[in-house]
Amino acid sequence: MLRVENLSHAFSNSTEIVPVLHQVSFQVKPGEMVALLGSSGSGKSTMLNLMAGLMKPTEGRIYIADQDIVKMSENKLAEFRRGHIGFVFQSYELIATMTVRENVELPLVFQSVRPSVRRKKALALLEEVGLPNKSELFPSQLSGGQQQRVSIARSLITEPSIIFADEPTGNLDTKTEEEIIGILQRLNKARNTTFVIVTHEAEVAEQMQSVITLRNGYLVTEQGDREGLPAGRGA
Ligand SMILES: Nc1ncnc2c1ncn2[C@@H]1O[C@H](COP(=O)(O)OP(=O)(O)OP(=O)(O)O)[C@@H](O)[C@H]1O
Ligand SMILES: [Mg+2]
Repeated sequence: MLRVENLSHAFSNSTEIVPVLHQVSFQVKPGEMVALLGSSGSGKSTMLNLMAGLMKPTEGRIYIADQDIVKMSENKLAEFRRGHIGFVFQSYELIATMTVRENVELPLVFQSVRPSVRRKKALALLEEVGLPNKSELFPSQLSGGQQQRVSIARSLITEPSIIFADEPTGNLDTKTEEEIIGILQRLNKARNTTFVIVTHEAEVAEQMQSVITLRNGYLVTEQGDREGLPAGRGA
């Protein structure tokens, strides 16, 4: 599903070059739920943004569904992302002036899907994430956990094969965190969607099928049901 090969990244500004990721390689199987674990500044968000095609790496390859997204032109990549990739942000990133349902529908607006079809899909997804009665409210009328459910529904509406989530429970209390992780696990089972979830909490990572750990931009461990593959080596 996802294969990262010798990925390195450095940010450069006018005075210096800051290396952030060093020759990282791993792979994620279709339908797998993977945690990307590491302390603050270890390069997790950078890694996720690269894998989601939000920026280009200094070096390396990223294959999603057997296509190298590093090589793609900006136009091709934008189209590929709309069809294959979903993203969930720590701070939800909902549009305040749109209702919950309109927020969930939004990715389909960009795909010119008919309003009646969009609406039906959005309502079904809102039900699936446990918000059947909130569709006509605005994001500010919802709790943080409820807003994150909306953003999860939005990420699913294009039926992406992989969803990247950057600390999706980072702003939530422990009980709500457990609910959100439970929802993600249920969606993963029901739809076989692949999830890569950034966290700095070992308790969250433990609930995933495998864990990729970054330390100072280096891959330190790769655990899980990888059938004896050596750490950091993609087949
Ligand atoms: N646009 C940028 N320009 C320069 N340096 C950057 C940029 N973005 C990130 N960095 C640096 O890259 C390193 C890794 O940052 P990143 O955001 O990937 O860490 P993280 O693991 O997601 O941390 P956190 O848990 O705090 O979110 C940090 O040292 C950060 O300062
Ligand atoms: Mg981060």
